Amino acid sequence: MCGIIGFTGFHKAQPILLEGLKRLEYRGYDSAGIAYFRDNTTHISIRKTAGKVSDLAAVCDDENDSICGIGHTRWATHGGVSTANAHPHKFGHVALIHNGIIENYQELTDTYGFGPKLKSQTDTEVAAAVISTKYDELGDPGEALKAAVREMKGSFAFCALFKEYPGKIFAIRNVSPMVATWTKEDGAFIASDLTAFIDYSKRYFAVPEYHLLTLSPEGIRLEDMDGNEVKPEYLTVDWDVSAAQKEGYPHFMLKEIHEQPDAIAKTIAPRIRDSLPDFSVDGIDDSLFEDVRDITVIACGTALYAGMVGAQMIRENFGIPVSCEIASEFRYERPVLNAHTLVIVCSQSGETIDTLAALRLAKTRTKKTLALVNVKGSSIARESDYVMYTHAGPEIAVASTKAYTSQVAAFYLIGVKLGLIGKKILIPEAKEFVETLRTVPDMVHTMLGYEDRVAALTKRLIHAWDVFYIGRGLDYKVAMEGALKLKEISYIHAEAYAAGELKHGTISLVEDGVPVIAISTQKNVHGKVISNIRETKARGAYVILLSRDENVTDPALCDVHFHIPDVPDEFTVFEVIVICQMLAYYTSTGRGVNPDQPRNLAKSVTVE
Ligand code: AGP
Repeated sequence: MCGIIGFTGFHKAQPILLEGLKRLEYRGYDSAGIAYFRDNTTHISIRKTAGKVSDLAAVCDDENDSICGIGHTRWATHGGVSTANAHPHKFGHVALIHNGIIENYQELTDTYGFGPKLKSQTDTEVAAAVISTKYDELGDPGEALKAAVREMKGSFAFCALFKEYPGKIFAIRNVSPMVATWTKEDGAFIASDLTAFIDYSKRYFAVPEYHLLTLSPEGIRLEDMDGNEVKPEYLTVDWDVSAAQKEGYPHFMLKEIHEQPDAIAKTIAPRIRDSLPDFSVDGIDDSLFEDVRDITVIACGTALYAGMVGAQMIRENFGIPVSCEIASEFRYERPVLNAHTLVIVCSQSGETIDTLAALRLAKTRTKKTLALVNVKGSSIARESDYVMYTHAGPEIAVASTKAYTSQVAAFYLIGVKLGLIGKKILIPEAKEFVETLRTVPDMVHTMLGYEDRVAALTKRLIHAWDVFYIGRGLDYKVAMEGALKLKEISYIHAEAYAAGELKHGTISLVEDGVPVIAISTQKNVHGKVISNIRETKARGAYVILLSRDENVTDPALCDVHFHIPDVPDEFTVFEVIVICQMLAYYTSTGRGVNPDQPRNLAKSVTVE
């Protein structure tokens, strides 16, 4: 998704904008640009280009003392990838950057007759034109921005410069995220997320929807649509700039795979007291979990697959009905929720638009909405009735890894709490489960030791066209995440299949050399899965087996075997996924792909 950065303060703006855009590259983009008040006059200069931030830096050819500007990385929605369609867009009084989609841009174009004056194919240029037109009518930048957004439908995070107001940035949002901060040493910053200005401040506030921000070196004014000043609610993160840097790793993804032991430990430790789950640190007491008769988990992508693991563990161990819903489906359905339904909304970014919309729908049916998110102060966190943060630190790579394992660990704690309150588990059993959960960071650390073996193996995968991940029970759920990891960063078609389903169609696709990642750690179905694997092997599959067995060398069963250390069934997911993550990572790099920024993908999907 697009990245936004704005700065006005006591330093030259251009270096801050360019560095901020580099920090936002992980969001996914295809062009970049900046606008600034040239030498702090009323002349707004724009530099923009299709390509990377490094390409933009190359065209920022004029040293100037501007202390105020805005910058943007564009993930194309309306209009192709071109310099003309790159942001910022200038129209009349205004230079504008935008993250989101203005759904009625064509209607606005026709209403105002902008057509012949437009130089791009973007909805953003139309927005700039509306804002400039409103300025002509109202003569005030803030009122012009408010009046313009009142006529717009869709999602937006706008930052605007008005040439009559050098040194000031005006901003307003709806759905698309923005955060801001001001320090007396540096000035005012605004961005899509904190990583863009973490070098200057760990304090920030999430910009409320439909509130106007006026940023100047002296401070930030926040006001509602009626002009009433509102006090920003500042938050502070517990991580620093190094967390948003690679620190010697070739890619953020590999760093984040290795950060998982720490991420999981930080997520669960504050929520365990006397070997039992305790969510008082989240301000959540047991009343949330009392009279819960069913659970609905809502998420997208990896967060959904984490939810599926959590759901299976809760169903199997505590007999509580749990459904897992794809947010983009759920939000358009007539959900069967009631006051006894606990809705868990899972999201790393806390900004996924479909998940946010699904949460808003769920809130019309129950007051038991619990957000499981990684980004403090994110929209989903702020709009849920309750919030539980994973403490994985910033996850920069598009492919989610440490957030997934942290989410699963959090689901396990929630499950044990539900089991205790529902009297489905005795305290000694609960303590034993939680103490095993405490050892998960060590389990993950052990599996990282397989890295070299996995890296060597991927040469067998980099030319594959189709890869199948098969398993039963929790192994099938983790196979879904494994398959997603591979396809999203290596561009190889990968599918997860319930091993018992193969005979119902998919096995027709298994031919000589087709890689099959076979996961068999669930004791009650191990024999069945082994039979399923042999069926694929008999048809020429290249089988990579992950199982508890020691040293499997049967050529009729598998070509490669990874021993999964013996832990309770519910916990092998933490071991297996590390191998799948590394398999995806090294296959991606083996194919010359940058796993941190895979094509077409964004870290946080804030457009529908
Ligand atoms: C996972 O590797 C992908 N980046 C994607 O599926 C992601 O999990 C999904 O977009 C949900 O994002 P969220 O957790 O921030 O809501």
